Amino acid sequence: PAPGWAIDADVVVVGSGVAGLTAALRCTAAGLRTVVVTKARLDDGSTRWAQGGIAAALGEGDTPEQHLDDTLVAGAGLCDEEAVRTLVTEGPDAVRRLIATGALFDTDPESGVIELTREGGHHRRRIAHAGGDATGAEISRALVEAVRDRAVRTIENALVLDLLKDARGHTAGVTLHVMGEGQHDGVGAVNAPAVVLATGGMGQVFSATTNPAVSTGDGVALALRAGAEVSDLEFVQFHPTVLFLGAGAEGQQPLVSEAVRGEGAHLVDGDGVRFMLGQHELAELAPRDIVAKAIMRRMQEQGAAHMYLDARHFGREMWENRFPTILAACRAHGIDPVTEPVPVAPAAHYASGGVRTDLHGRTTVPGLYACGEVACTGVHGANRLASNSLLEGLVFAERIAEDISAADLRTPGTPTGPATVLPLIAPEARHGIQQTMSQGAGVLRSAASLSAAADALEAVQRDAAHDPDGRAKSAEPGVDAWETTNLLCVSRVLVAAALEREETRGCHWREDRPDRDDTDWRRHLVVRLTPDRR
Ligand code: SIN
Repeated sequence: PAPGWAIDADVVVVGSGVAGLTAALRCTAAGLRTVVVTKARLDDGSTRWAQGGIAAALGEGDTPEQHLDDTLVAGAGLCDEEAVRTLVTEGPDAVRRLIATGALFDTDPESGVIELTREGGHHRRRIAHAGGDATGAEISRALVEAVRDRAVRTIENALVLDLLKDARGHTAGVTLHVMGEGQHDGVGAVNAPAVVLATGGMGQVFSATTNPAVSTGDGVALALRAGAEVSDLEFVQFHPTVLFLGAGAEGQQPLVSEAVRGEGAHLVDGDGVRFMLGQHELAELAPRDIVAKAIMRRMQEQGAAHMYLDARHFGREMWENRFPTILAACRAHGIDPVTEPVPVAPAAHYASGGVRTDLHGRTTVPGLYACGEVACTGVHGANRLASNSLLEGLVFAERIAEDISAADLRTPGTPTGPATVLPLIAPEARHGIQQTMSQGAGVLRSAASLSAAADALEAVQRDAAHDPDGRAKSAEPGVDAWETTNLLCVSRVLVAAALEREETRGCHWREDRPDRDDTDWRRHLVVRLTPDRR
């Protein structure tokens, strides 16, 4: 659709989690005219839901080198070591700057030193947290407040549609659909020579996820349509301990943070047996993929729909002070962790892959940047280390702001028109896409399950494009239809990558290819859609 209105900026930041708001604050501080556009309200993304915390070598005796080692092990041979080194080296100061921006982390009441917890894959206490288990909410609060204090221009309820490019193929802005009032309503554009994608993840491609409703893969879909390279989409991380609300539970599910295991909770099966003992030197604190697999295996062996997390030994006071958010969520569903084990099962949690970037957050389209979950910087490899995601958002957002400030990007080219998204997929297809993805491309995958998923997704695409008489059709434009179009777009690429990677590595678990294959598969699957497939 042609934009009905346009505004000009130096930088448009799409998304308002830790990555987007950090980029926006730094760009504003550098004197760049910055506009933040976000699909719902400023604090509606995934950042707000992050519980455990933010990992950085802040503790006495800890070093970036040890953080690097743990990250590389979790990443199962596919991390980009230089990107990880950047993350862990710049991380501690980035956290200190976040604190200077106003985020309040939990500290020891006597010494004032930041309290650190443990999570899966970390060999030491390294995770700073806030409000006990409400770290993301506190970070989001502090950043939103800073953005408001510094009068950064923001447009809420604005779904990004497509990238605008000039005749040279350089970024020239984005088109948006704004559900607002007055001047900026309906389809419009922000013209800018630099666009920072910080749209978060794509958990909503699965039927059960820890991600909020807004995580529909919009940034990755936009990047694919814009001809940018996308990498590692097959590596979807399933969080091992998500509150089990029934086999048919759909949409966003309550997380039970790894920090609960970090503080000593046990995973037990239906017979009360601690099944992680003897499976890994870190037992319940093994990297996330290993714990998720062990849970799935034990569920299969016992014909059970879930396992249990037992932390009754924490006692009431510790539950109330250290994990108030999780305690409230469990109690809201009739489970009291103080007196009973909590039923848990894995659910889709984090996209380790995304839009491919270099160490400055640059994608392969000039002027288009990406940071946070939407990006694939190379730090996560085949399996993200717990609590590295908020850190990645911080560190690479700062790097992007520096790069944009140093670049001569101030003259946007004339947009040659947005990519055309046809056909738009009808919102009614969403549920089927999610079911297909959970059944065929969930924690357990095989060539057969993935092929069936690929066929089902092709059928959705075919049916969306033509009516039964073979005439071309497209759904009515609207947020639901654009989101469903994006969900289908990223699902198809994800399934194709998962089918192609004929091995088991990190969070990509192929039952028909159970071994890691370093001879053929120590490499990334990079996708760039040709114009006829966009
Ligand atoms: C958690 O608190 O378990 C989530 C941490 C993360 O996903 O990094």
